[in-house]
Amino acid sequence: MPDPIAPKDQLDLLAQEIQSDPLETAADLDAYRIRYLSRKQGRITELLKQIPAVDPSDRKAFGAAVNGLKSLAEERIAEAEARIGPVDDAASGAPDLTLPGRRPVRGSLHPITQARREIERVFAGFGFTIAEGPEIEDDWHNFTALNFPPDHPARDMQDTFFVEPPSGPGTGIFLRTHTSPVQIRVMEGTPPPIRVIIPGRVYRNEAISYKSFCLFHQMEGLVVAEGVSMAELKQVLHAFAVEMFGTDVRMRFRPSFFPFTEPSAEVDIWWKDERLPDGGRWLEILGCGMVDPAVLEAVGIDSERYTGYAFGMGIERIAMLRHGITDIRVLYENDARFLEQFA
Ligand code: PHE
Repeated sequence: MPDPIAPKDQLDLLAQEIQSDPLETAADLDAYRIRYLSRKQGRITELLKQIPAVDPSDRKAFGAAVNGLKSLAEERIAEAEARIGPVDDAASGAPDLTLPGRRPVRGSLHPITQARREIERVFAGFGFTIAEGPEIEDDWHNFTALNFPPDHPARDMQDTFFVEPPSGPGTGIFLRTHTSPVQIRVMEGTPPPIRVIIPGRVYRNEAISYKSFCLFHQMEGLVVAEGVSMAELKQVLHAFAVEMFGTDVRMRFRPSFFPFTEPSAEVDIWWKDERLPDGGRWLEILGCGMVDPAVLEAVGIDSERYTGYAFGMGIERIAMLRHGITDIRVLYENDARFLEQFA
């Protein structure tokens, strides 16, 4: 039998190193563990493997000495771990394979899109079909055919985004200021009976605030047939409000004015808010009325035979009412923290 592979003084030397090697940082700790205890090449591991080969007379003493070194190293590791904390793999640059995977982020429909689809669903149930028209309009469809007088303030440069500024009365190409021009396009293209809703973007050169933005969405409605009445208009809009906001919805019709409807009204919905002195306030959601006979005549529909009603609602207003949103601008900021609440 050869001499013990690690003579006594060599074990003493090793004990000194185990005792005095620096253990200040996580990197020290990592290196220490590998140096002495790694399964493949740890210095103590190597000695443990040799125990069976040692001469039986020395084996017991040798084994005890090596196991003593092992306990010593383990004690120092435990002490250093308690002091430094567990090794931070992220800091050491190694990926932590035990972390759960990252889920892909799923998008969702914008609250305006959700409100538009919901409104469309409700009116589809009332027998309405969807029509659409261009966002860049001419004066005839946006104003003249809708019975706006030539000097109406809505035609003002201040309110309208022009593509081609007007060169005289009844001219100019611009971003539509409402979805009502599509009423004209539908009536020009289809004989009555007509029963359509018209979703779309509209643009107004207005001061931006919590309740108005330079671009917003409207849902227009148009019904033209024989014997259509204001009572039917009120009934349809009330049924819509109940579907949209529930049976306890409070709504009111207020007399109003639009050049293209007569009589005209605006509809308000009661916005509950306990912080307000009255426990809420009225919020306008739409304008409506009986289609003015002058409009029917402008598109060649016999106003003696046919009557019609129209309405135009703000889709943002509906979304705000449904979700308790108090500032329209958040709908246009694309802040993921806001949008992900509607997933
Ligand atoms: N176009 C009007 C607006 O934008 C709303 C409206 C539509 C009023 C249809 C009456 C009839 O304010």
